[in-house]
Amino acid sequence: MSGASRGLPRPLARPGSSARGIAPLLLLLLWPLLRPLGAAASCPCQDPALCQPIRNHSNFEVFVFDVGGKTWKSYDWSQITTVALFGKYDSELMCYAHSKGARVVLKGDVSLKDIINPHFRTSWIAQQVNLAKTQYMDGINIDIEQEVTCPSPEYDALTALVKETTDSFHREIEGSQVTFDVAWSPKCIDRRCYNYTGIADACDFLFVMSYDEQSQVWSECIGMWNANCLDYSGDAVAKQQTEEMWEALKPKL
Ligand SMILES: *[C@@H]1O[C@H](CO)[C@@H](O)[C@H](O)[C@H]1NC(C)=O
Ligand SMILES: *[C@@H]1O[C@H](CO)[C@@H](O)[C@H](O)[C@H]1NC(C)=O
Repeated sequence: MSGASRGLPRPLARPGSSARGIAPLLLLLLWPLLRPLGAAASCPCQDPALCQPIRNHSNFEVFVFDVGGKTWKSYDWSQITTVALFGKYDSELMCYAHSKGARVVLKGDVSLKDIINPHFRTSWIAQQVNLAKTQYMDGINIDIEQEVTCPSPEYDALTALVKETTDSFHREIEGSQVTFDVAWSPKCIDRRCYNYTGIADACDFLFVMSYDEQSQVWSECIGMWNANCLDYSGDAVAKQQTEEMWEALKPKL
């Protein structure tokens, strides 16, 4: 991430060299390739220290999914520990979050068919790490809501993806955070039969989408409850499934 000069083809600009004339042209042609380096070298924050990733960990998390715009200016930043950017990247938000000690993380989604191939997995992860570094971000929130059956190649590949992503981010960005979004129940909700305990062990923590207890809504559904705060109104199956999710999470708590 260091040194703007790294990106410039200096040898071509030697005074008196006949190559001198083509240097600007080459630079022009190479510019799209060099830009990621150049961007990483120029911190957009007024205080360059704000481009450093957040390193400390708190023992609780207040996690925000930001969907774009400038509503973040109205957040209660005294509470927030992580903002997952589901909208467009906003460097002003990154600088501000860092000034408040909050992490800013990528949203990660990828086709599970593709990640069965370990080489594809490796290159996808490298791209995410690179993007996070270029944008001075602090990790990734993996939000795969695709159907998986068990057993299947996707089932194991997904657990491997989370493990490899976590290893890679932790190695490449000190203090970074890798999280994974799960349904409110581990019982194949929306046909998402994932290895929940394996995934929980493989990342920093799971985000339980408990605001979504109706799960994916394909039919007409207006004005019904969405999350009912553990009051299942006598629905024993829902109660049991939520309790099982908490059992799966217990080793991480
Ligand atoms: C990190 O430490 C700073 C300064 O003490 C604090 O304001 C912030 O909340 C901490 N961030 C996390 C994610 O714990
Ligand atoms: C879940 O993942 C863990 C870690 O990879 C593995 O040890 C375990 O066998 C997996 N569980 C199932 C049911 O496949």
